[in-house]
Parts: sequence; C-alpha cells; structure tokens
Amino acid sequence: MADLRVNLAGLMLDNPVIPASGTFGYGKEFSRYYDLDILGSFSFKGTTLHPREGNPLPRIAETPSGMLNSVGLQNPGVDEVISRILPEMKTYFHKPVIANVSGFSLEEYVEVSRRLDGEDQVGMIELNISCPNVRHGGMSFGTDPACAAEVVGAVRRAVKKPLFVKLTPNVTDISEMARACEGEGADGVALINTLMGLRLDLRTRRPILANVTGGLSGPAVLPVALRMVYAVKKAVKIPVMGMGGVSTARDVIEMMLCGATAVQVGAANLVDPMACKRIIEDLPAEMDKLGIEKLSDIIGGAL
Ligand code: FUM
Repeated sequence: MADLRVNLAGLMLDNPVIPASGTFGYGKEFSRYYDLDILGSFSFKGTTLHPREGNPLPRIAETPSGMLNSVGLQNPGVDEVISRILPEMKTYFHKPVIANVSGFSLEEYVEVSRRLDGEDQVGMIELNISCPNVRHGGMSFGTDPACAAEVVGAVRRAVKKPLFVKLTPNVTDISEMARACEGEGADGVALINTLMGLRLDLRTRRPILANVTGGLSGPAVLPVALRMVYAVKKAVKIPVMGMGGVSTARDVIEMMLCGATAVQVGAANLVDPMACKRIIEDLPAEMDKLGIEKLSDIIGGAL
C-alpha cells in the first residue's frame, strides 16, 4: 500500500498536501464539500495584529493559466482568530493547523506569532514575509536578507513551535534569502509566494486591479516554483515546503522530487474546491505508475 506520510520538521503528516494560505480561508467553507481531516494540514489566511479590510476592488484578474490577486491581507485580526475562529475550527478540523502570520513591523510579526504559538491547535508558524500586495511590511521584509534575518531571529526567540518562513520569488537570489532564514533558526522555508504582475483593461487603458499590481499564481508559475524549490533545496539543510501552480498529483510528485517535503496547493482550490481531495486520492495510483512505494523516499530525488 502506498505510504504518503511525511515528517515536516517533526510534524508527522498523513500526506504532504496542504491548502495554501489565502486560498482556503479558515477551511470552514471547504468543510461543507469534504472531510478536511484527509489533508496533511492547511495554512490559514495570513493573520495580522489588527483586522484588515484589504485592498479596494477589483482585486482579482484572470490570466492565461493563472490569476493575479491583490487581496491586501484581508483578515479579522489575531484576537478574533483566537477567540472565535480557532474554537470553531475544532469542530471541523482535528489536526495541527499552520498559522500564516503577516505583518507590517517586526514587533507585529513577533506579537502575532507569539500569540498563535500559544494555541494548542497551531502546529506550525508560517512567517509570511512575502505578501506583494501591501506598501509596507510583507514582501519588503522578504527581499533583503538582513531584514529577513532580523525578523526571523526575533520571531524564533518568541515561539516554541516549528517556524517556517514563506519566501517571495520577487528577488534575484531566493537561495540567499533561504540561507538567511536558516541562519536565524528557521525550521524550514516555504516557497514560492506569488510573482508580481499587472494586467490592463484595454477599454479604459488602466490597470484592472485597483492596487495596480498583483501576485500571479496558478499553473503558469509551476516551472518557476520548481526551479526555486530545486535551488533552495540545494542551498539549505532545513526542509522546504513547495508551492506554486500545483494542481495535480503528478505536480506534487514533481515538487517533491525537486526537494519539497510537503506541497501546498493554492489557486487550484479557487478553480475546484475539491482540488486537494482529488490530488490526495490520485496520489497512490500515480505513485504506483512511477514505482514509488514511499513518498518520503523521493524528496530531493532529482538533485
Ligand atoms: O494580498 C494578499 O493578501 C496576499 C498575501 C500573500 O500573497 O501573502
């Protein structure tokens, strides 16, 4: 029988498939379609200290084989997540969840991480220093190795649970960013967040997105994500969570061969709410075709 289990920095997952932050909310809507306990885990929407309404509309634009988003970190804030959302999540998800932490200052990252780290349902902190859709904070921490190191070091000292850092592809050398995070005690890195892009409305001759630019995700970015996961796997010893354009079981296998221990699925959830269920169910047959008995054996096999 195919063995799908993986060990992600000490967190034993039944399989490597994890819905990506920002594409799965807090899971509640998806729990009406399938039992979320079949997932490896899921990463909930980037949480900030204070509630945020996000960017003005429109904030989604379709592209060939992908989409641009400029949501702007809409979320109810950490108080609401802890007091209402996590208790409710206990009724439909019974595994450790990944808390995606976003922020606008080092102090905010530390405070939100510290508070979510104290919640028993949270199995891992995913420090999001890669949101491209806000003017301050977000990606600005993730494009300079010294800034990334400073925030990762500060959060590391504030939390006990495994700490992954979500990296932006909008840099010259993502391996350098990963090494900076590893040097400050990150337990792993997650990549890639979205690639910055822009589309115009030809009738108005203006950008479609109110925020002008947005982050590109979807199948179009898979080869970019594979290249970066491959490069980062070579550059660091800590585990890599791969993501970017994954929509099939074969994509998961490709991502793992490039070095991913677990694989996040993002935009595919917006196209098909059953995407992660389908991928998990398809994995054993695809493994069988490729002569793979134990999925964890193939991690980094292409390097
Ligand atoms: O705009 C957003 O909320 C996106 C966040 C992210 O890409 O991390």
